[in-house]
Amino acid sequence: MKAAVFPRYGPIEVLEVRELPKPSPRSTEILIKVCYSTVIAGDCELRSFSFPWWFWLPLRLYTGLFRPSRVKIPGQEFSGEVETVGNEVNGFKPGDQVFGATGPPFSGNAEYVCVSKTRALALKPAALSHDVAATIPTGGLNALHYVRMAELKPGSRILINGACGNIGSFAVQLAKFFGAEVTAVDAHEKLDALRGMGADHVIDYKREDFTKSERTYDAILDVVGKASFSGCLRRLTPKGRLVIANPNLRSILRGKWVSIKSDKKVRVQFADYKVEDLEYLSGLIEKGELRAIIDQTFELSQIQEAHRYVEEDHKKGNVVLRIPTG
Ligand SMILES: NC(=O)c1ccc[n+]([C@@H]2O[C@H](COP(=O)([O-])OP(=O)(O)OC[C@H]3O[C@@H](n4cnc5c(N)ncnc54)[C@H](OP(=O)(O)O)[C@@H]3O)[C@@H](O)[C@H]2O)c1
Repeated sequence: MKAAVFPRYGPIEVLEVRELPKPSPRSTEILIKVCYSTVIAGDCELRSFSFPWWFWLPLRLYTGLFRPSRVKIPGQEFSGEVETVGNEVNGFKPGDQVFGATGPPFSGNAEYVCVSKTRALALKPAALSHDVAATIPTGGLNALHYVRMAELKPGSRILINGACGNIGSFAVQLAKFFGAEVTAVDAHEKLDALRGMGADHVIDYKREDFTKSERTYDAILDVVGKASFSGCLRRLTPKGRLVIANPNLRSILRGKWVSIKSDKKVRVQFADYKVEDLEYLSGLIEKGELRAIIDQTFELSQIQEAHRYVEEDHKKGNVVLRIPTG
């Protein structure tokens, strides 16, 4: 089968498409013929191994200390068709149209992927195209998780920082769906797209630092983890929630202290991917309550161009990768 691989950690040029043996599923796994996968910021961070120092060693011990060994094929989400199932798998059969998250060791940017039956894998509604379904598992599930942690009620005010990316584009729409008044922060060229997603107010982060304004919020979701921690706390209402999707060690430790010592809460937990949440999100898309924002589609053979676009070209929403049919 054809697969994108990164034989070493490094710049975009390390990526190549290779012919690899087709994987065969264990008794607890499902073999899926992939139609679409995605390239997200996390794939670029893994390829170049740009992670904070405290996360570097534990992650490297898993992915491969000197070169990628356990994780060689990028791609954390996919949509496709079940080819075979292991004899301990129930609920799926050959021919089912499915979408889901690979979980570690990833490998979604390939013609075939084996996924454990314990992973978040769901039947794709017929009304959803494969490219749309492929964007739901990481951006959608993370957005749902973080927006839920913000505990929004109708009329709550939320600010979303890094609002036009993979997670943010779903988070803005979900926060609106839950009845919140949404302020979306991102770069100038993305503000119209954010208005189109329903944002009530938009801020260009290159021109205005929201932590220095007078306005307060019931919740702040810092998707990119780049806003000042104390500045965000100052912009919260007395019982407000600060949710950080990409926290550093300092904000994790300070967050615990703030949550103990005040009525403000800081939340940094990673998402637990659940099948019922995949079904919930695909249902919202089917009903027209939520849209997957797809900026560009690349072929698997254009894996370098796709990483370059995600890393350098200020994408809006999602970048999908079309996998050849055979
Ligand atoms: N997707 C996941 O599964 C997942 C889960 C947990 C954590 N994370 C981490 O969370 C981070 C965001 O993920 P993502 O996939 O949503 O990334 P993304 O698609 O790259 O979106 C990030 C957005 O934030 C904007 N941005 C950059 N710097 C900013 C700043 N200083 N202030 C406000 N906005 C800024 C970016 O604009 P420009 O393009 O113009 O820079 C982009 O629109 C990544 O580091 C990722 O590893 C991801």
